[in-house]
Amino acid sequence: MCGIVGYVGSEKSLEVLLGGLKRLEYRGYDSAGVAIVDAAGELHTVKRAGKLSVLADELAAHPMANGSTGIGHTRWATHGGPTDRNAHPHLGDDGRLAVIHNGIIENFAPLKDELLAEGFSFTSETDTEVAAVLLGREFRATGSLQEAFRRVVARLEGAFTLLALHQDEPGVVVGARRNSPLVIGLGDGENFLGSDVAAFVEHTRRAVAIGQDQIVTITPNEVKVTDFDGNAVEVEAFEVAWDAAASEKGGWSSFMAKEISEEPDAVANTLRGRVLDGRVVIPELEAFGDDVLAGIDRITIIACGTAAYAGQVGRYAIEKWSRVPVEVELSHEFRYRDPVITPTTLVISISQSGETMDTLMAVKYAREAGARAISVCNTQGATIPRESDAVVYTHAGPEVAVASTKAFVAQITALYLFGLHLARVRGSLSEADQAEYVAELLAIPAKISHVLESSESIAQLAKWMSDSRAVLFLGRHVGYPIALEGALKLKELAYIHAEGFAAGELKHGPIALIEAGQPVFVIVPSPRGSAEMHKKVVSNIQEIRARGARIIAIAEQGDAAVLPFADEVVPIPLAAPMFEPFLAVIPLQIFAMELATAKGLDVDQPRNLAKSVTVE
Ligand code: M6R
Repeated sequence: MCGIVGYVGSEKSLEVLLGGLKRLEYRGYDSAGVAIVDAAGELHTVKRAGKLSVLADELAAHPMANGSTGIGHTRWATHGGPTDRNAHPHLGDDGRLAVIHNGIIENFAPLKDELLAEGFSFTSETDTEVAAVLLGREFRATGSLQEAFRRVVARLEGAFTLLALHQDEPGVVVGARRNSPLVIGLGDGENFLGSDVAAFVEHTRRAVAIGQDQIVTITPNEVKVTDFDGNAVEVEAFEVAWDAAASEKGGWSSFMAKEISEEPDAVANTLRGRVLDGRVVIPELEAFGDDVLAGIDRITIIACGTAAYAGQVGRYAIEKWSRVPVEVELSHEFRYRDPVITPTTLVISISQSGETMDTLMAVKYAREAGARAISVCNTQGATIPRESDAVVYTHAGPEVAVASTKAFVAQITALYLFGLHLARVRGSLSEADQAEYVAELLAIPAKISHVLESSESIAQLAKWMSDSRAVLFLGRHVGYPIALEGALKLKELAYIHAEGFAAGELKHGPIALIEAGQPVFVIVPSPRGSAEMHKKVVSNIQEIRARGARIIAIAEQGDAAVLPFADEVVPIPLAAPMFEPFLAVIPLQIFAMELATAKGLDVDQPRNLAKSVTVE
């Protein structure tokens, strides 16, 4: 939820911290701040409510001392509103140490009472300041930042990544994590810490993911990782698969526009290395064992938001191809309903960030109950893959805009690949069918490119519709989750009331919402698939049209049956019905982005949201 960066090395902390925060701002943008120990061994802190640009303006107007040791933070508020006082870093030991934090310290209230009773005082409403004041007390008692830090984290409950520095120990940053991410960047004479690799990828692509309940100490030439008891922990470095340019906006008007343009690559890169002679073999699943996969008798997909809609699309394909029953559940609902889990249950989690707390907790719960867990994830070194038995990475590249776009199509790609892999292992699809579906998948990137090239009309439509107060979305079968996703995109970006419905459900209630001029997007299934389903959706269109709705149909090129009833038709290339979601979702993403832009809204950083939701 918050973005965290730490640095030790040369006298350029401020540049490193601001660069890192800029790349992490997608994680939260309520306030930002930095703390730096200068060459004279003095701690300086600057923090401001608002986006990072407010802090940058403040630093430009009133430059702060630079130094070789620093920490920086960009916040998504939990405890205490987004004010200057509540912004991080928070200070302890009479302003000699600074702490930044991502997560929620659940037992902050009794700790605060304890410190108040001892005469300590607080300047903010945050849980983080409690950790800072506690750290100051323990530093006074031990004279060692590392030892004091170890004592503090041992007392904290909840989810946290904490970084701290003390002016009496320049050249040292300590960090710890529990249920919240922290990654080390290994440099030459300098080292980095970050919520994710984006924090430091500009400086180094060698990284180490910190495990659960571990503490790290970085100096310019050393990295030490221990558990919370102080025992040394072996770590393994990995190479970040993308470079700094991949997380830059380039010449695009927004990260979202850039990321939509990258959707053909997101699909192609996720397919790469997993298709062989018309069959799907996912190498990452080999360790899992074909016999184990073949014995799976139930699959539960867990995810949140857009990832859950990808799961709903994937469900149709996995179930149809493998003949294993698949259910899709929101992670936060799954855990609390006492689901039936057996050793032959497979749980597939989907998460772009790999850090969504609701999904992480659901994965842990499922594994503790005996299920096997596969993670579909876009972020190397993230927590959810580390807590799973296997991971199928989506290779969409870094997704910075808060609204998920390219990760969504990459997630569907990974799920379809999984469905074909499972079908092969179980022998539930003929070789010919496998080859046909593989060919359909391989053709998707070029078809998405085609949709992107002809998107001008949807951009125009969005401008015309920028005064709309409510927009409805209808779909059937795999078009249903696409309707839900189209509505979510519009809600989160344009702050317009939007609802997605299964087209067949309309007559059971929602049709009462239709009045003259009500815009309704309809995702029309291919007439070349189930002719009956196509006919039913065309009937649904007629029903709402008769009540005054304004119909925008997303339909296959040449679908003449829709033309007489639609006010607008957005044509998409021909694809087998199961593969339409890849194409139908693109105009909906563009529509939401363009409409939000027409309303003058920030499409990369919509209000109240953060890219990675690391609180429950
Ligand atoms: O990182 P995750 O994929 O786990 O995130 C899940 C949701 O929070 C995310 O998809 C959210 O719904 C997006 N803002 C949608 O655009």
